[in-house]
Amino acid sequence: MENFRFARQAAILGSSVFDHAPGTISLSSGAAYPPCLPNVVNEAIEAVGPLREEAMQYSPLMGLDELRQEICNYVSQDGVFCKPSNVLVTYGAKSAFDLALRTFIEPGDKVIVSRPTYMTAIHIMRTHNVQFIDIGRDEDGILTDELEATLHRMEKNAESMPKVFFDVPDFHNPTGITTTLIRRQQLLQLAQRYNFVICEDDPYRRIRFEGEPVPPIKSLDDSGHVIGLGTVSKILAPGLRVGWAIGDYQIVRRMAMQKSDGGSNAFAQRIVIQMLQSGRVNEHITELIQQMRIHRDVMVNEFSEHIPEARIRAPQGGYFLWIELPEGTDGERLVELGIREGVEVSAGRLSFPNDGSANFIRAAFSFTSEREIEEAIARLGRAWKILKSEQPKLN
Ligand SMILES: Cc1ncc(COP(=O)(O)O)c(C=O)c1O
Repeated sequence: MENFRFARQAAILGSSVFDHAPGTISLSSGAAYPPCLPNVVNEAIEAVGPLREEAMQYSPLMGLDELRQEICNYVSQDGVFCKPSNVLVTYGAKSAFDLALRTFIEPGDKVIVSRPTYMTAIHIMRTHNVQFIDIGRDEDGILTDELEATLHRMEKNAESMPKVFFDVPDFHNPTGITTTLIRRQQLLQLAQRYNFVICEDDPYRRIRFEGEPVPPIKSLDDSGHVIGLGTVSKILAPGLRVGWAIGDYQIVRRMAMQKSDGGSNAFAQRIVIQMLQSGRVNEHITELIQQMRIHRDVMVNEFSEHIPEARIRAPQGGYFLWIELPEGTDGERLVELGIREGVEVSAGRLSFPNDGSANFIRAAFSFTSEREIEEAIARLGRAWKILKSEQPKLN
């Protein structure tokens, strides 16, 4: 093998999707359910025909003006009132978060996250060489008391203070928990007092099966401390790669200047504009909610049948189950055994930026059909039995 001189972050490839046996059922990614992907033939024909001079061109750096206006209309349904000048169009929410980090973070700067948090966000933050300040969470969201005490202590010790806070307040990935209004208000107060920006990543907000929505932190923000990160990945199709950041004009303009790949995909933006203008997005969300609710229920039932020891709090929305296994379970070993049995879930440890509990796994119910979910959890149940024979204290 060639002795390539890889960067530290690329040196270990690990076991990954590239290695899976054919027929492995993947529950590791929040991919869209294929039968629910929208048919956008008519929108695409418009974009490559009459609108080709716009759609086949580089997009303006901030995104197409019409899309920025449509995004304002869309988020106003959630109580976020902004102007197109506050909206930056990106290649998805992850890319928007990366641009926010480029705008605020220098190597060694501190970022606040909850423990656990969204695993891909951890990866993105690591590429910026951040230091993580990880704060616990409970059924109400991140522990704002612990955060306040931490910030207070850091300030007293004249430590460098965190610049960015990242969280997923609605149907948190991975725990599925929705942060309460009071915690959101407390967070915003802390952001204002200690002058950090909140990156509010909200891809699942509209995928609510039950319960009442809680106002986005961005809707409470009168000081510009919140950057709202949005995407069409969960409400339409991740392949479109269209997302946005909503924030203070000074911030989003600087974020736009950090783009290294031009102005984002004008063709896909044009498709999204048409889907938003025609009202098809909201129709699509209604269908998606019905389907995802069924998937969630099937998965919860299958876990209770095949791994009755697992503790699951069924989320009221979103794409994932967060599964707590008995204390002492090696979740990473269960993932390995699961892959051998033909099912892939994610090890919970990947969601912890520093040290984390090993007895969790995450399973997405979004991508697979009901029948595949049944088969997948039956396979995981077989892996669980093998693990229990290896770790008899779990019995
Ligand atoms: C928490 C969270 N943020 C963002 C995204 C989507 O990012 P993007 O818009 O880049 O597809 C996901 C998808 O899995 C997610 O779980």
